[in-house]
Amino acid sequence: MSQTASTSVDNVTVEDLEDAVTYPVDAFLSREYAEAEKDRLWAKVWQMAGRVEEIPEVGDFITYEIGDDSIIVTRSAPDTIKAFHNVCAHRGSRLVSTPCGKNNACGNRKQFVCGFHGWTYDLDGNNVYVHEPQDWKGALTEEMTRLSDVKVDTWGGWIFINMDPDCVSLREFLEPAAGILDAFEFERMRYKWRQWVIFDCNWKTAMEAFMEPYHVAGTHTQMLEHGDYYAYSAAYGLHGVSGFDQRDPDLQMSQSSTVTRAGKGQDPRISTYELQHELYTTVNYASTTETLLNAAKRLVDELPEGTPADEVIQHWLASARADDAARGVVWPTISPENMAEAGLAWHIFPNMTVLQGITFALCYRARPYGDDVDKCIFESYAIERFPEGKEPETEWVQAEATAEKWGLVLSQDFSNMASVQKGMKSRGFRGTLPNPHQERKVTNFHRNLARYMGRGAPRRIR
Ligand code: FES
Repeated sequence: MSQTASTSVDNVTVEDLEDAVTYPVDAFLSREYAEAEKDRLWAKVWQMAGRVEEIPEVGDFITYEIGDDSIIVTRSAPDTIKAFHNVCAHRGSRLVSTPCGKNNACGNRKQFVCGFHGWTYDLDGNNVYVHEPQDWKGALTEEMTRLSDVKVDTWGGWIFINMDPDCVSLREFLEPAAGILDAFEFERMRYKWRQWVIFDCNWKTAMEAFMEPYHVAGTHTQMLEHGDYYAYSAAYGLHGVSGFDQRDPDLQMSQSSTVTRAGKGQDPRISTYELQHELYTTVNYASTTETLLNAAKRLVDELPEGTPADEVIQHWLASARADDAARGVVWPTISPENMAEAGLAWHIFPNMTVLQGITFALCYRARPYGDDVDKCIFESYAIERFPEGKEPETEWVQAEATAEKWGLVLSQDFSNMASVQKGMKSRGFRGTLPNPHQERKVTNFHRNLARYMGRGAPRRIR
């Protein structure tokens, strides 16, 4: 195991993963490994199944498809969400089918009626109708005929499910990440847009494309004129975080997060705006907000030349906060220490990424696509705080992996995925060499994956 040191930050153990390591690629390429994932990983972990806002009314439901399993998540009462295996207790028919070409099913039902012989279930999973039950001569019990329950809980406005009846609580699974991120109040954000696509790579290849800013220098070269992207990366148990190192004061990075940086240039009033403009226009109108962008644009008019970067940032954020308050968007209170520890982006084990800001987040999820180890369903969405009643109406949209549909930055990320998946199969590939400082999230992912899978642990290379 690669862990060699640990430090304590605010009573949270941060596992440092300082060693240079490698890990096997069968996690990405082996069909047998993918088959084992169904039992050893997906059947055991909490997984994000959707957002609470997707099922606001009683009877609203969504499905979450993972491996051979399909889960129905439904609002059974105004304040209750339930989850069940999407399978009829009679002879195993799927109760709700995912429409062809969709990433999930959704709708509103008073009852779930099986299309094969008509057995019917209420929103609590109880069987309320068996066709000609007398034929069983009293052998059927309520337990036999109800839907199989799945654990369900919420955090940050996300709905999580777990198929393991003996699992730890969601909160325990998410800590310490949840405790660090609570202050962002993601539950008060709503979808801005949500898109999905099928990629020619394993789900882990797709997730790892967003685990480290180490790739910015090679992939997003247009961003280099707006800042330095040297990153730290740290493990927090199952989960991991990355952010920007503050190694060079000339680069005017007052914090590690995207939205508290002044960009790169002689005049922080201008560079702050240029960075925000770059993010807004090339990351599909996510990774910052229109309010922050507009407030940054005014900096040259509102502040004198020569204002120090820290003062520019303070003025900019106060100004944007006031703009939002005026339209009914109240910012959460996040201490500077909390903001710094929260960093830039989190990997929530196993298949969720959150790149958070004060009033927004850009998120990713990747899942296997059938039994094809070389494909995955990749979903990305932006959430943001909106004035009450002004939330946009959104739905999942399948979108080609182009710059036009996703923005330049994401399309650049996408271009790496199939290339990595193909490259790992090369006879000439000697094995992975993750950056021991900037890609610890990736290494931590494989360390934890190995714990669930019983193999594939990263090992030292010296
Ligand atoms: Fe569902 Fe027969 S399989 S009613």
